Amino acid sequence: MDVHASLLSAVGETPLVRLNRVTARLSTPVYAKLEYVNPGGSVKDRAALSMVSAAEEAGLLAPGGTIVEGTSGNTGVGLAMVAAQRGYRCVFTLPDKTSAEKIAVLRAYGAEVVVCPSGLPLEHPDHVFNTAVRIAAERPGGWHANQYDNAANPAAHYRTTGPEIWRQTDGRITHLVAGVGTGGTLTGAGEYLREAAGGRVTVVGADPEASVYGGGDGRPYFVESIGHVLHPETVEDRWPESYRPEAVDRIERIGDRESLLTARRLAREEGLLVGGSAGTAVAAALRVAAEAGPDDLVVVVLPDSGRNYLSTVHDDAWLRHWGFLDGDGGGPVVGEAGSVPIGPRLRPADTVRQALDVLAGPSGARPGREGAALVTVAGTGRPVTGPDVVGSVTARRLREAVDSGAARPEDALSAHLAPAPPAFGVGEPAVEALRALDAARGEVALVLLDGHAHALVDRAALRAVVEGVPGTTAAGDRPEVPRTRPEPAHR
Ligand SMILES: Cc1ncc(COP(=O)(O)O)c(C=O)c1O
Repeated sequence: MDVHASLLSAVGETPLVRLNRVTARLSTPVYAKLEYVNPGGSVKDRAALSMVSAAEEAGLLAPGGTIVEGTSGNTGVGLAMVAAQRGYRCVFTLPDKTSAEKIAVLRAYGAEVVVCPSGLPLEHPDHVFNTAVRIAAERPGGWHANQYDNAANPAAHYRTTGPEIWRQTDGRITHLVAGVGTGGTLTGAGEYLREAAGGRVTVVGADPEASVYGGGDGRPYFVESIGHVLHPETVEDRWPESYRPEAVDRIERIGDRESLLTARRLAREEGLLVGGSAGTAVAAALRVAAEAGPDDLVVVVLPDSGRNYLSTVHDDAWLRHWGFLDGDGGGPVVGEAGSVPIGPRLRPADTVRQALDVLAGPSGARPGREGAALVTVAGTGRPVTGPDVVGSVTARRLREAVDSGAARPEDALSAHLAPAPPAFGVGEPAVEALRALDAARGEVALVLLDGHAHALVDRAALRAVVEGVPGTTAAGDRPEVPRTRPEPAHR
Protein backbone atom coordinates (compact mmCIF):
# COMPACT_ATOMS: atom_id res chain seq x y z
CA MET A 1 0.00 0.00 0.00
CA ASP A 2 1.14 3.55 -0.73
CA VAL A 3 0.11 5.04 2.62
CA HIS A 4 1.41 7.10 5.55
CA ALA A 5 1.52 5.50 8.99
CA SER A 6 0.98 8.97 10.48
CA LEU A 7 -0.01 12.40 9.22
CA LEU A 8 3.42 13.60 10.22
CA SER A 9 5.23 11.57 7.58
CA ALA A 10 3.12 13.46 5.00
CA VAL A 11 4.91 16.72 5.89
CA GLY A 12 7.19 17.90 3.07
CA GLU A 13 7.79 16.53 -0.43
CA THR A 14 5.70 19.39 -1.80
CA PRO A 15 5.38 19.93 -5.57
CA LEU A 16 7.57 22.32 -7.56
CA VAL A 17 5.44 23.93 -10.27
CA ARG A 18 6.53 26.18 -13.13
CA LEU A 19 4.95 29.65 -13.31
CA ASN A 20 3.76 30.24 -16.85
CA ARG A 21 1.66 33.39 -17.22
CA VAL A 22 3.12 35.89 -14.74
CA THR A 23 6.50 35.07 -16.27
CA ALA A 24 5.32 35.42 -19.87
CA ARG A 25 8.04 37.86 -20.95
CA LEU A 26 10.90 36.20 -19.11
CA SER A 27 13.37 33.73 -20.55
CA THR A 28 14.42 32.37 -17.14
CA PRO A 29 12.18 29.60 -15.76
CA VAL A 30 10.65 30.29 -12.34
CA TYR A 31 9.40 27.34 -10.29
CA ALA A 32 7.15 27.70 -7.25
CA LYS A 33 7.49 25.39 -4.25
CA LEU A 34 3.89 24.89 -3.12
CA GLU A 35 4.25 24.75 0.64
CA TYR A 36 0.53 25.14 1.22
CA VAL A 37 0.20 21.51 0.15
CA ASN A 38 1.62 20.47 3.54
CA PRO A 39 -0.98 18.76 5.77
CA GLY A 40 -1.25 21.76 8.11
CA GLY A 41 -1.39 24.13 5.14
CA SER A 42 1.98 25.90 5.32
CA VAL A 43 5.75 25.75 5.22
CA LYS A 44 5.72 25.92 9.02
CA ASP A 45 4.69 22.26 9.35
CA ARG A 46 8.31 21.41 8.66
CA ALA A 47 9.67 23.64 11.44
CA ALA A 48 6.96 22.55 13.90
CA LEU A 49 7.66 18.84 13.44
CA SER A 50 11.40 19.40 13.65
CA MET A 51 11.22 21.54 16.82
CA VAL A 52 8.89 19.15 18.68
CA SER A 53 11.00 16.12 17.77
CA ALA A 54 14.20 17.88 18.90
CA ALA A 55 12.56 18.92 22.20
CA GLU A 56 11.43 15.35 22.85
CA GLU A 57 14.91 14.03 22.15
CA ALA A 58 16.44 16.64 24.49
CA GLY A 59 13.92 15.76 27.24
CA LEU A 60 12.39 19.25 27.20
CA LEU A 61 8.94 17.99 26.23
CA ALA A 62 7.37 14.91 27.79
CA PRO A 63 3.93 13.23 27.79
CA GLY A 64 1.32 15.52 29.39
CA GLY A 65 3.34 18.58 28.43
CA THR A 66 2.12 21.85 26.94
CA ILE A 67 3.60 23.45 23.82
CA VAL A 68 3.63 27.28 24.02
CA GLU A 69 4.53 29.58 21.15
CA GLY A 70 4.18 33.15 19.98
CA THR A 71 2.91 32.72 16.45
CA SER A 72 0.95 34.63 13.87
CA GLY A 73 -0.82 31.46 12.94
CA ASN A 74 0.97 29.03 10.68
CA THR A 75 3.56 27.82 13.17
CA GLY A 76 0.64 27.41 15.57
CA VAL A 77 -1.21 25.21 13.09
CA GLY A 78 1.90 23.10 12.54
CA LEU A 79 2.51 22.72 16.27
CA ALA A 80 -1.19 22.05 16.98
CA MET A 81 -1.20 19.32 14.33
CA VAL A 82 1.91 17.67 15.79
CA ALA A 83 0.47 18.09 19.32
CA ALA A 84 -2.78 16.38 18.32
CA GLN A 85 -0.83 13.45 16.89
CA ARG A 86 1.46 13.14 19.90
CA GLY A 87 -0.93 14.08 22.72
CA TYR A 88 0.27 17.50 23.92
CA ARG A 89 -1.73 20.58 24.88
CA CYS A 90 -0.94 23.91 23.18
CA VAL A 91 -1.21 27.60 23.97
CA PHE A 92 -0.51 30.24 21.33
CA THR A 93 0.07 33.95 21.81
CA LEU A 94 -0.50 36.15 18.80
CA PRO A 95 -0.85 39.83 17.92
CA ASP A 96 -4.31 41.36 17.62
CA LYS A 97 -3.74 42.19 13.93
CA THR A 98 -3.71 38.47 13.06
CA SER A 99 -6.49 37.61 10.62
CA ALA A 100 -9.68 36.21 12.15
CA GLU A 101 -9.45 33.10 10.00
CA LYS A 102 -6.03 32.18 11.38
CA ILE A 103 -7.25 32.45 14.98
CA ALA A 104 -10.35 30.36 14.21
CA VAL A 105 -8.18 27.61 12.70
CA LEU A 106 -6.01 27.38 15.83
CA ARG A 107 -9.09 27.10 18.03
CA ALA A 108 -10.48 24.39 15.75
CA TYR A 109 -7.42 22.26 16.56
CA GLY A 110 -8.34 22.63 20.26
CA ALA A 111 -5.56 25.09 21.02
CA GLU A 112 -5.83 27.89 23.55
CA VAL A 113 -5.28 31.31 21.98
CA VAL A 114 -4.07 34.38 23.89
CA VAL A 115 -4.43 37.58 21.85
CA CYS A 116 -1.86 40.24 22.73
CA PRO A 117 -1.86 43.90 21.76
CA SER A 118 0.21 44.58 18.65
CA GLY A 119 2.45 47.61 18.36
CA LEU A 120 4.29 47.03 21.66
CA PRO A 121 8.06 47.32 21.99
CA LEU A 122 9.92 44.03 22.48
CA GLU A 123 10.67 44.95 26.10
CA HIS A 124 6.98 45.23 27.01
CA PRO A 125 5.77 42.39 29.30
CA ASP A 126 2.59 41.96 27.22
CA HIS A 127 4.52 41.54 23.94
CA VAL A 128 3.62 38.28 22.17
CA PHE A 129 7.09 36.83 22.84
CA ASN A 130 7.25 37.71 26.55
CA THR A 131 3.72 36.45 27.09
CA ALA A 132 4.70 33.08 25.59
CA VAL A 133 7.82 32.89 27.79
CA ARG A 134 5.73 33.63 30.88
CA ILE A 135 2.99 31.09 30.08
CA ALA A 136 5.56 28.36 29.35
CA ALA A 137 7.21 29.00 32.73
CA GLU A 138 3.89 29.00 34.61
CA ARG A 139 2.37 25.80 33.16
CA PRO A 140 3.58 22.47 34.51
CA GLY A 141 5.38 20.65 31.67
CA GLY A 142 5.33 23.86 29.61
CA TRP A 143 7.81 24.15 26.73
CA HIS A 144 8.40 27.32 24.73
CA ALA A 145 9.07 26.32 21.12
CA ASN A 146 10.63 29.73 20.26
CA GLN A 147 10.86 29.36 16.50
CA TYR A 148 12.87 32.59 16.40
CA ASP A 149 15.91 31.17 18.14
CA ASN A 150 15.37 27.42 17.87
CA ALA A 151 18.10 25.79 15.74
CA ALA A 152 15.68 22.97 14.86
CA ASN A 153 13.70 25.48 12.74
CA PRO A 154 16.35 26.25 10.08
CA ALA A 155 17.59 22.66 10.48
CA ALA A 156 14.21 21.42 9.19
CA HIS A 157 14.80 23.26 5.92
CA TYR A 158 18.44 22.22 5.71
CA ARG A 159 17.31 18.61 6.10
CA THR A 160 14.16 18.65 3.92
CA THR A 161 13.27 21.78 1.85
CA GLY A 162 16.78 22.31 0.47
CA PRO A 163 17.40 18.68 -0.56
CA GLU A 164 13.92 18.40 -2.10
CA ILE A 165 14.56 21.46 -4.31
CA TRP A 166 18.00 20.14 -5.29
CA ARG A 167 16.54 16.79 -6.27
CA GLN A 168 13.45 18.21 -8.00
CA THR A 169 15.53 20.55 -10.17
CA ASP A 170 18.14 17.90 -10.83
CA GLY A 171 20.72 20.27 -9.36
CA ARG A 172 19.93 23.00 -11.92
CA ILE A 173 18.67 25.63 -9.46
CA THR A 174 20.69 28.86 -9.61
CA HIS A 175 18.55 31.19 -7.45
CA LEU A 176 16.48 30.54 -4.32
CA VAL A 177 13.94 33.24 -3.34
CA ALA A 178 11.92 33.21 -0.10
CA GLY A 179 10.48 35.61 2.43
CA VAL A 180 12.18 36.01 5.79
CA GLY A 181 10.05 35.77 8.93
CA THR A 182 12.05 33.82 11.47
CA GLY A 183 14.50 33.24 8.62
CA GLY A 184 14.30 29.47 9.04
CA THR A 185 13.22 28.71 5.47
CA LEU A 186 15.73 30.90 3.66
CA THR A 187 18.65 30.21 5.98
CA GLY A 188 18.18 26.43 6.18
CA ALA A 189 17.29 25.74 2.55
CA GLY A 190 19.78 28.37 1.32
CA GLU A 191 22.71 26.92 3.25
CA TYR A 192 21.97 23.42 1.97
CA LEU A 193 21.63 24.54 -1.65
CA ARG A 194 24.78 26.65 -1.53
CA GLU A 195 26.76 23.67 -0.24
CA ALA A 196 25.18 21.24 -2.69
CA ALA A 197 25.95 23.55 -5.62
CA GLY A 198 29.45 24.47 -4.47
CA GLY A 199 28.39 28.11 -3.95
CA ARG A 200 26.67 28.43 -7.35
CA VAL A 201 23.19 29.14 -5.92
CA THR A 202 22.28 32.77 -5.18
CA VAL A 203 20.13 33.09 -2.06
CA VAL A 204 17.66 35.99 -2.20
CA GLY A 205 15.47 37.25 0.65
CA ALA A 206 12.11 38.82 -0.28
CA ASP A 207 11.36 41.52 2.26
CA PRO A 208 8.63 44.10 2.81
CA GLU A 209 9.98 47.53 1.87
CA ALA A 210 9.65 48.91 5.39
CA SER A 211 11.19 45.86 7.13
CA VAL A 212 14.56 46.42 8.79
CA TYR A 213 16.01 43.19 7.34
CA GLY A 214 16.37 44.90 3.97
CA GLY A 215 17.28 48.32 5.35
CA GLY A 216 13.79 49.79 5.93
CA ASP A 217 12.93 51.88 8.97
CA GLY A 218 10.77 49.16 10.53
CA ARG A 219 7.43 50.97 10.36
CA PRO A 220 4.36 48.72 10.11
CA TYR A 221 3.32 47.18 6.81
CA PHE A 222 0.46 45.06 5.55
CA VAL A 223 1.97 41.72 4.49
CA GLU A 224 1.76 39.31 7.41
CA SER A 225 4.37 36.88 8.74
CA ILE A 226 7.52 38.17 7.06
CA GLY A 227 10.02 40.97 7.61
CA HIS A 228 10.96 42.64 10.87
CA VAL A 229 9.12 45.62 12.35
CA LEU A 230 10.95 47.99 14.67
CA HIS A 231 8.89 49.72 17.33
CA PRO A 232 10.19 53.25 17.99
CA GLU A 233 10.43 52.50 21.72
CA THR A 234 12.39 49.27 21.29
CA VAL A 235 15.69 49.87 23.07
CA GLU A 236 17.74 47.04 21.62
CA ASP A 237 16.60 45.46 18.36
CA ARG A 238 17.16 41.73 18.35
CA TRP A 239 17.02 39.65 15.18
CA PRO A 240 16.07 35.97 15.34
CA GLU A 241 18.93 33.47 15.54
CA SER A 242 17.00 31.41 12.96
CA TYR A 243 17.94 34.13 10.47
CA ARG A 244 21.61 34.12 9.50
CA PRO A 245 22.17 37.13 7.21
CA GLU A 246 25.53 35.69 6.08
CA ALA A 247 23.55 32.87 4.42
CA VAL A 248 21.79 35.41 2.19
CA ASP A 249 23.35 37.00 -0.91
CA ARG A 250 20.88 39.81 -1.35
CA ILE A 251 17.51 41.16 -0.36
CA GLU A 252 14.80 42.42 -2.70
CA ARG A 253 12.57 45.01 -1.05
CA ILE A 254 8.95 44.85 -2.14
CA GLY A 255 6.24 47.41 -1.34
CA ASP A 256 2.86 46.34 0.03
CA ARG A 257 1.03 47.19 -3.20
CA GLU A 258 3.31 45.04 -5.34
CA SER A 259 3.10 42.14 -2.85
CA LEU A 260 -0.67 42.20 -2.54
CA LEU A 261 -1.38 42.67 -6.23
CA THR A 262 1.10 39.92 -7.13
CA ALA A 263 -0.73 37.54 -4.77
CA ARG A 264 -3.98 38.44 -6.57
CA ARG A 265 -2.39 37.82 -9.96
CA LEU A 266 -1.15 34.41 -8.85
CA ALA A 267 -4.72 33.38 -8.09
CA ARG A 268 -6.18 34.85 -11.28
CA GLU A 269 -3.44 34.05 -13.76
CA GLU A 270 -1.81 30.91 -12.39
CA GLY A 271 -4.61 29.36 -10.32
CA LEU A 272 -2.40 29.58 -7.23
CA LEU A 273 -4.42 30.85 -4.27
CA VAL A 274 -1.67 32.03 -1.91
CA GLY A 275 -1.08 34.53 0.88
CA GLY A 276 0.50 37.97 0.83
CA SER A 277 3.98 36.72 1.73
CA ALA A 278 3.91 34.50 -1.39
CA GLY A 279 3.08 37.67 -3.34
CA THR A 280 6.19 39.30 -1.89
CA ALA A 281 8.32 36.27 -2.74
CA VAL A 282 7.05 35.98 -6.32
CA ALA A 283 7.43 39.73 -6.93
CA ALA A 284 11.07 39.36 -5.83
CA ALA A 285 11.51 36.20 -7.94
CA LEU A 286 10.22 38.03 -11.05
CA ARG A 287 12.83 40.74 -10.50
CA VAL A 288 15.55 38.14 -10.05
CA ALA A 289 14.43 36.25 -13.16
CA ALA A 290 14.37 39.46 -15.22
CA GLU A 291 18.09 39.89 -14.52
CA ALA A 292 19.01 36.21 -14.91
CA GLY A 293 19.78 34.31 -18.09
CA PRO A 294 17.98 31.51 -19.97
CA ASP A 295 20.25 28.88 -18.42
CA ASP A 296 19.38 30.01 -14.90
CA LEU A 297 16.59 28.50 -12.86
CA VAL A 298 14.76 30.37 -10.11
CA VAL A 299 12.90 28.62 -7.28
CA VAL A 300 10.49 30.63 -5.14
CA VAL A 301 8.84 29.39 -1.94
CA LEU A 302 5.07 29.97 -1.57
CA PRO A 303 4.53 29.60 2.19
CA ASP A 304 0.77 29.37 2.65
CA SER A 305 -2.69 29.43 1.11
CA GLY A 306 -4.81 32.44 0.25
CA ARG A 307 -7.66 30.85 2.19
CA ASN A 308 -6.11 32.40 5.28
CA TYR A 309 -6.66 35.85 3.75
CA LEU A 310 -10.09 35.81 2.12
CA SER A 311 -11.13 38.86 4.18
CA THR A 312 -7.91 40.77 3.43
CA VAL A 313 -5.52 40.13 0.54
CA HIS A 314 -8.19 38.47 -1.61
CA ASP A 315 -11.04 40.83 -0.79
CA ASP A 316 -11.54 43.70 -3.26
CA ALA A 317 -13.36 45.86 -0.70
CA TRP A 318 -10.46 45.53 1.78
CA LEU A 319 -7.85 46.28 -0.87
CA ARG A 320 -9.83 49.27 -2.06
CA HIS A 321 -10.40 50.61 1.46
CA TRP A 322 -6.66 50.71 2.13
CA GLY A 323 -5.94 52.38 -1.18
CA PHE A 324 -4.37 49.39 -2.93
CA LEU A 325 -6.95 49.23 -5.74
CA ASP A 326 -8.18 51.91 -8.06
CA GLY A 327 -11.84 52.48 -8.85
CA ASP A 328 -13.98 49.79 -10.43
CA GLY A 329 -15.05 52.17 -13.20
CA GLY A 330 -18.50 52.65 -11.66
CA GLY A 331 -18.36 56.39 -10.90
CA PRO A 332 -16.16 59.07 -9.36
CA VAL A 333 -13.77 57.91 -6.68
CA VAL A 334 -12.29 59.54 -3.59
CA GLY A 335 -8.92 60.01 -5.33
CA GLU A 336 -10.54 62.33 -7.87
CA ALA A 337 -11.73 64.84 -5.27
CA GLY A 338 -9.57 67.88 -4.61
CA SER A 339 -7.51 67.14 -1.52
CA VAL A 340 -4.90 68.88 0.63
CA PRO A 341 -1.70 67.46 2.10
CA ILE A 342 -1.84 66.22 5.68
CA GLY A 343 -0.44 68.81 8.07
CA PRO A 344 2.31 68.23 10.57
CA ARG A 345 2.17 65.04 12.63
CA LEU A 346 2.11 65.14 16.39
CA ARG A 347 2.40 62.38 18.97
CA PRO A 348 -0.03 61.75 21.82
CA ALA A 349 2.69 62.56 24.36
CA ASP A 350 3.32 66.03 22.88
CA THR A 351 1.91 68.90 24.97
CA VAL A 352 -0.94 71.20 24.07
CA ARG A 353 1.58 74.07 23.94
CA GLN A 354 3.80 72.20 21.49
CA ALA A 355 0.78 71.42 19.31
CA LEU A 356 -0.34 75.05 19.28
CA ASP A 357 3.18 76.15 18.34
CA VAL A 358 3.29 73.65 15.49
CA LEU A 359 -0.17 74.64 14.30
CA ALA A 360 0.78 78.32 14.32
CA GLY A 361 3.76 77.59 12.04
CA PRO A 362 3.58 77.66 8.25
CA SER A 363 3.06 73.93 7.86
CA GLY A 364 0.17 74.06 10.32
CA ALA A 365 -1.72 76.74 8.46
CA ARG A 366 -3.94 74.52 6.42
CA PRO A 367 -7.21 75.64 4.99
CA GLY A 368 -10.29 73.93 6.35
CA ARG A 369 -13.89 74.71 6.95
CA GLU A 370 -13.20 75.58 10.57
CA GLY A 371 -10.59 78.07 9.47
CA ALA A 372 -8.08 76.08 11.44
CA ALA A 373 -5.52 73.41 10.82
CA LEU A 374 -6.16 69.72 11.21
CA VAL A 375 -3.39 67.54 12.49
CA THR A 376 -3.35 63.79 12.62
CA VAL A 377 -1.61 62.20 15.53
CA ALA A 378 0.60 59.22 14.84
CA GLY A 379 0.67 56.72 17.69
CA THR A 380 4.14 55.53 16.81
CA GLY A 381 5.65 58.79 15.67
CA ARG A 382 6.31 57.13 12.34
CA PRO A 383 5.08 58.31 8.96
CA VAL A 384 1.36 58.07 9.41
CA THR A 385 -0.21 54.85 8.28
CA GLY A 386 -3.94 54.38 8.47
CA PRO A 387 -3.95 52.22 11.58
CA ASP A 388 -1.56 54.57 13.38
CA VAL A 389 -3.80 57.61 13.30
CA VAL A 390 -5.20 57.72 16.81
CA GLY A 391 -6.94 61.10 16.75
CA SER A 392 -6.97 64.65 15.49
CA VAL A 393 -6.75 68.19 16.84
CA THR A 394 -7.41 71.61 15.43
CA ALA A 395 -5.85 74.85 16.57
CA ARG A 396 -9.27 76.40 17.13
CA ARG A 397 -10.54 73.64 19.42
CA LEU A 398 -7.28 73.51 21.36
CA ARG A 399 -7.28 77.27 21.88
CA GLU A 400 -10.91 77.19 23.04
CA ALA A 401 -10.08 74.42 25.51
CA VAL A 402 -7.17 76.41 26.93
CA ASP A 403 -9.25 79.61 27.15
CA SER A 404 -12.08 77.85 28.99
CA GLY A 405 -9.70 76.12 31.40
CA ALA A 406 -10.58 72.64 30.07
CA ALA A 407 -6.96 72.19 28.93
CA ARG A 408 -3.64 73.41 30.29
CA PRO A 409 -0.74 74.15 27.94
CA GLU A 410 1.39 71.51 29.68
CA ASP A 411 -1.24 68.75 29.28
CA ALA A 412 -0.43 65.81 27.05
CA LEU A 413 -2.28 66.02 23.76
CA SER A 414 -3.67 62.53 24.33
CA ALA A 415 -6.16 63.97 26.85
CA HIS A 416 -7.61 66.37 24.28
CA LEU A 417 -7.87 64.37 21.08
CA ALA A 418 -10.87 64.40 18.80
CA PRO A 419 -11.49 61.08 17.02
CA ALA A 420 -9.40 60.26 13.98
CA PRO A 421 -11.12 61.37 10.79
CA PRO A 422 -12.81 58.57 8.84
CA ALA A 423 -10.55 57.10 6.18
CA PHE A 424 -11.28 56.07 2.60
CA GLY A 425 -9.14 54.50 -0.09
CA VAL A 426 -8.37 56.43 -3.28
CA GLY A 427 -10.43 53.94 -5.29
CA GLU A 428 -13.54 53.96 -3.08
CA PRO A 429 -16.68 55.56 -4.53
CA ALA A 430 -16.81 59.26 -3.63
CA VAL A 431 -20.55 59.02 -3.07
CA GLU A 432 -20.08 56.43 -0.31
CA ALA A 433 -17.38 58.50 1.39
CA LEU A 434 -19.67 61.53 1.29
CA ARG A 435 -22.54 59.53 2.77
CA ALA A 436 -20.33 58.19 5.57
CA LEU A 437 -18.93 61.64 6.31
CA ASP A 438 -22.46 63.07 6.46
CA ALA A 439 -23.57 60.29 8.82
CA ALA A 440 -20.58 60.93 11.09
CA ARG A 441 -21.12 64.71 10.84
CA GLY A 442 -17.47 64.98 9.94
CA GLU A 443 -15.92 67.73 7.88
CA VAL A 444 -12.74 66.04 6.78
CA ALA A 445 -11.66 62.53 5.77
CA LEU A 446 -8.28 60.89 5.32
CA VAL A 447 -7.43 59.59 1.87
CA LEU A 448 -5.54 56.30 1.98
CA LEU A 449 -3.06 55.34 -0.74
CA ASP A 450 -1.06 52.11 -0.53
CA GLY A 451 -2.12 51.70 3.10
CA HIS A 452 -0.93 55.13 4.18
CA ALA A 453 -2.79 58.30 5.07
CA HIS A 454 -1.91 60.30 2.00
CA ALA A 455 -4.07 63.44 1.99
CA LEU A 456 -7.15 65.09 3.47
CA VAL A 457 -10.39 65.67 1.63
CA ASP A 458 -13.31 67.73 2.88
CA ARG A 459 -17.04 67.38 2.37
CA ALA A 460 -17.25 70.17 -0.19
CA ALA A 461 -14.60 68.56 -2.38
CA LEU A 462 -16.34 65.17 -2.19
CA ARG A 463 -19.69 66.74 -3.03
CA ALA A 464 -18.15 68.58 -5.98
CA VAL A 465 -16.75 65.40 -7.50
CA VAL A 466 -19.99 63.50 -6.88
CA GLU A 467 -21.96 66.27 -8.60
CA GLY A 468 -19.48 66.43 -11.47
CA VAL A 469 -17.86 69.74 -10.56
CA PRO A 470 -14.04 69.61 -10.70
CA GLY A 471 -12.29 69.53 -7.28
CA THR A 472 -12.49 72.86 -5.51
CA THR A 473 -10.49 72.67 -2.31
CA ALA A 474 -7.30 74.63 -1.92
CA ALA A 475 -6.24 74.70 -5.53
CA GLY A 476 -2.48 74.77 -5.92
CA ASP A 477 -2.01 73.06 -2.59
CA ARG A 478 -3.08 69.66 -3.73
CA PRO A 479 -0.97 66.54 -3.42
CA GLU A 480 -0.92 64.35 -6.45
CA VAL A 481 -3.30 61.46 -5.80
CA PRO A 482 -2.63 59.18 -8.73
CA ARG A 483 -5.81 57.68 -10.13
CA THR A 484 -4.02 54.76 -11.58
CA ARG A 485 -0.79 53.20 -10.51
CA PRO A 486 1.72 51.23 -12.54
CA GLU A 487 1.17 47.52 -12.42
CA PRO A 488 4.01 45.52 -10.93
CA ALA A 489 6.78 45.03 -13.47
CA HIS A 490 6.96 42.00 -15.78
CA ARG A 491 3.29 41.41 -16.31
C1 LIG B 1 2.75 32.95 5.62
C2 LIG B 1 4.18 32.92 5.99
N1 LIG B 1 5.08 33.36 5.13
C3 LIG B 1 6.39 33.35 5.41
C4 LIG B 1 6.87 32.94 6.63
C5 LIG B 1 8.33 33.04 6.90
O1 LIG B 1 8.96 31.83 7.08
P1 LIG B 1 10.24 31.73 8.01
O2 LIG B 1 9.78 31.94 9.43
O3 LIG B 1 10.77 30.36 7.81
O4 LIG B 1 11.21 32.80 7.64
C6 LIG B 1 5.96 32.50 7.57
C7 LIG B 1 6.41 32.11 8.89
O5 LIG B 1 5.64 32.01 9.81
C8 LIG B 1 4.59 32.47 7.24
O6 LIG B 1 3.67 32.06 8.13
